[in-house]
Amino acid sequence: MTKEQPHGGKFITLEGGDGSGKSTQARLLAEYLRQQSIETLLTREPGGAPGADEIRQLILTGDPDRWDAVGETLLFYASRRNHLRLTIWPALKAGTWVISDRFADSTMAYQGYGNQLGEAAVQRVHDFAVGAFKPDLTFIFDMPPAEGLRRTTGRTHNEDRFEKMDLAFHGRLREGFLDIARKNPDRCVVIDATREIESIQEELRRILKARLMP
Ligand SMILES: Nc1ncnc2c1ncn2[C@@H]1O[C@H](COP(=O)(O)OP(=O)(O)OP(=O)(O)O)[C@@H](O)[C@H]1O
Ligand SMILES: [Mg+2]
Repeated sequence: MTKEQPHGGKFITLEGGDGSGKSTQARLLAEYLRQQSIETLLTREPGGAPGADEIRQLILTGDPDRWDAVGETLLFYASRRNHLRLTIWPALKAGTWVISDRFADSTMAYQGYGNQLGEAAVQRVHDFAVGAFKPDLTFIFDMPPAEGLRRTTGRTHNEDRFEKMDLAFHGRLREGFLDIARKNPDRCVVIDATREIESIQEELRRILKARLMP
């Protein structure tokens, strides 16, 4: 499936560092689309399909050095391939709009930039596993990493391998996301994620309407 292949649904992704508000905004955006009588599927990565959810546990739990960047990239793409094949592509084909809380830009930012695997290496795996398919619209949530991590401290979950990475890693991550946005201006919009939840949501809806509901 390529971007050129006709499908009724639109594919929207939310990307950015830990605690930047992606899940909060994804839920509100799904609510909004459903209010507009648009059939909407809210999904997330890693995960979003049975096998993909099992891989999620492998990736997100345990020691920070449990996987190296290469192993991690392959796990993410095995998971993403299942997510696309079993969840995202069938939904889009049926005309459903799909909102994904993280997608491929996260692998590029975390493994390519954060872990310094490099852009070309991640892109090769991407081309093999995903091909030319890409989101119709991507929101990149930007904020100082320390602020995002502050929001997530005290949260009780064990899916925290990346939150345990040092601040230098999170700094490279932020620059990575901004670089991705600069290189893909047709698809990506950078969102100032330090603002109030309501005003961010308003901006997302405005951009979404302008770009996808002409
Ligand atoms: N604009 C905001 N201002 C202040 N707090 C916020 C804002 N958006 C979300 N939060 C709070 O910050 C925390 C993290 O938000 P959320 O889970 O949506 O982030 P996330 O980007 O999905 O994080 P992760 O990458 O860890 O999944 C939550 O407690 C949420 O209620
Ligand atoms: Mg989240």
